[in-house]
Amino acid sequence: MCGIVGYTGNNDACAFLITGLQRLEYRGYDSAGIATLSSDSPRIQTTKVAGRVAQLESALAAGTIRGRLGIGHTRWATHGAATEINAHPHSGGRSVLSLVHNGVIENYESLKTDLQAKGFEFVSQTDTEVIAHLVADHYAQLQAGGEPTVEHCVEAVQTAVSQLRGTYGLLVMFRDFPDLLIAARCGSPLVIGVGKGEQFVASDTSPLVGFADRIVYLADHQVAVIRPESIQVLHRDQGRVRPDVHVLSSDSVDVNMEGFNHFMLKEIYEQPQSIQNALRGRLDRDNATAKFGGLNLTPQQLRGVQRIVLTGCGTSWHSALVGEYLIEELARVPVEVEYASELRYRNPPTDHATIVFGITQSGETADTLAALREMKRKGHHTLAICNVIGSSIAQAADGGIYLHAGPEIGVASTKAFTSQLTVLTMLALYFGRLRHLSFEAGQRVIEQLERLPHLVEQALACHDQVKEIAAHYHTANNFLYLGRKFNFPTALEGALKLKEISYIHAEGYPAAEMKHGPIALVDEHTPSVFIVPQGTVYEKVLSNLQEVKARGGPVIAIVDHDDPQVARLADNVIRIPQVEDFLQPIVASIPLQLLSYEIALLRGCDVDKPRNLAKSVTVE
Ligand code: F6R
Repeated sequence: MCGIVGYTGNNDACAFLITGLQRLEYRGYDSAGIATLSSDSPRIQTTKVAGRVAQLESALAAGTIRGRLGIGHTRWATHGAATEINAHPHSGGRSVLSLVHNGVIENYESLKTDLQAKGFEFVSQTDTEVIAHLVADHYAQLQAGGEPTVEHCVEAVQTAVSQLRGTYGLLVMFRDFPDLLIAARCGSPLVIGVGKGEQFVASDTSPLVGFADRIVYLADHQVAVIRPESIQVLHRDQGRVRPDVHVLSSDSVDVNMEGFNHFMLKEIYEQPQSIQNALRGRLDRDNATAKFGGLNLTPQQLRGVQRIVLTGCGTSWHSALVGEYLIEELARVPVEVEYASELRYRNPPTDHATIVFGITQSGETADTLAALREMKRKGHHTLAICNVIGSSIAQAADGGIYLHAGPEIGVASTKAFTSQLTVLTMLALYFGRLRHLSFEAGQRVIEQLERLPHLVEQALACHDQVKEIAAHYHTANNFLYLGRKFNFPTALEGALKLKEISYIHAEGYPAAEMKHGPIALVDEHTPSVFIVPQGTVYEKVLSNLQEVKARGGPVIAIVDHDDPQVARLADNVIRIPQVEDFLQPIVASIPLQLLSYEIALLRGCDVDKPRNLAKSVTVE
C-alpha cells in the first residue's frame, strides 16, 4: 500500500527519494510524487504523476539538484481516484508546507468543513490534504505574525495529530526550514535511517538498505524532529524519549531480482532456502520436538492452553486453515480460524486458556493488527507468526515466531506462505509433544521436516511441464481448484494465486462440495485443478475427479506417485514428491504458484504488481 520516503542532508534529496520509491513499488500503488526544498529557493517544488515511479523520474528535470530536503510518496487510492491532483505530497496553507501521509483519517469530513469555514481551499478529494491544511492552520496561529521557529512546526504537527481519528504515518517539511523533517506515527509505520550528516525516512526498511545501517522505528503517538545532525523523538504522553537505535537487519538487504524476470519467480525458487531458514535452530532431535525463543510463555502455561485461535487475511488466512488441521491432528488442541477483519468486530465467547496467533507476512495488515489488539485487550496472550522484523504486529504481540523468509517483494505471496506452513507444522509438533504425541511420532515429523527443503527443490522441476499446461489453458475464463483435508486450503490458495495475478476467475472448494452446487460450472471451457496425492482421502478425491470428468470438464491433476487411474482420467498430470499428508500443502503449492505465474505472463499481466492490489494492506 502507500509508501513514504524522506531525506534531509547535504546530498541531492532526489537521488534517495527516487531509489526509495522504486523500492517501495512492490507495496502496490497507482500514483507517485515528490516535493523538495533548497536553501536558495523560497519555494517548495512538487512533481506528481498518476502512474509509475519511472514516469515521475522522467518528469523531473534530469541532472538538476532540486534540493537537499525532500519527501516522496507512492499512493494507493482510498479517498479520491488515482489522479495527479490526489497524488501526494499535498501542500498546506499557501504552500507553507508539504506533507505525505499513509493511513486513513476517519474524521476528515468534519475537519474539512471547519477548515473550509476558515477559508482554506481544497484541490483534492483526499483525507491527506485536510491534515496538510490543519497543520498549516496551527502553524499560522502559533506564529501570530512573528518569526517562525522549529518549535512552532513541532507544536503545529502535535496539535494537528491530536485532532485526527484514524491511522497515519506522516512526514512534513516546512518552507521556512530547508533542513527540517517532522514525522508522526499512529498505526502506520515509519522508520528513520540514521546517517552521518544526513537522515533518511521510509515507511519500511527496504528503501534504507545501502543508505543507513542504523535505524529508529517510530512508535505510535511519537513525533520525530529530524535534522541532518540530530533526531529528537517526542511522545504524546511521555515527552522527550530516547530514540531506540537498531541495526538494520541483513534480512532486508536482498532486494533485487538476481537474474529472474520477476520477484515472484525468484521468490518461488527461493523456497527450498526460505523453508530451511524457517527450520534453522528450531528442531530439537533429542526431545523429538520443536523449540521457539519468543513465545514468552512457559511450557506449563502452554500446557494449560485449551484453545487456539488462528487469524489472518488472504494467503495468511489460508495458512491458518492448514494450521487448524495441523494442530488438531498433531496436538489435539481445538483450533478456530477467523478472518482478522471479522474477528476484530466479533465478540466470540473465549476463556482465558485461549491464545491467539496472528499470521502475517508484512506484519502491517490493519485488520490483523486490530484483531490481535482486541484479543489482547480481552486478556488473551497474543502471538505473531510474522516475516517482517520490527513490524507493527511483531511489536504489538506478546511474543511470536519470525519466518526469516527474507523480503517478499512480489505482491502475490509465495515463499511467506510455505514458511508460515513450516512454522505452523513445528508449532503443532511442539504442542503435540507437550501433550500426547509420542517421542517416535515426534521424530517422524522432524525427519519429514528435515527433508522438506530438498523435496521442494524437486517439486520445482515441474516448471517446464507447467509452462506447457499454462500455454494450453491461459485463455480460460474460469478455473476450479479442488482438494480435501489438508489440501482444501491448498486449493483455496491455488485459486487466490491465479485470480490475483492473472485476473481469471477461480474458485477453490473442498472437492466433495462440488456436487452441492459448483459442479454446475463445469463445462469443456472450465479447467479443474485437482490436488490428489495418496492419503486417507485419495479415493474420495478420485471419485470427485470422475464426477467432473463425466461432465466434460478438463482436469489438471497433481499427484505424488505414478498413478494410472488418474492418468487415465486427467488431461494433464503433474507429479510432486511424496510427503506425509500434513506437508502436502507445502509441496503441492509449488506447481500451483508456477501455474499462476506462467498463465499471468501469457496474458501479459504485471505479475509483481497486479492491478488494484497492495503488498501490505494498511487500511481497513
Ligand atoms: C495474496 C496476498 C494477500 C496477503 C494478505 C495478508 O497473495 O499476498 O492475500 O496474504 O493481504 O497479508 P499479510 O500476510 O502481510 O498480513
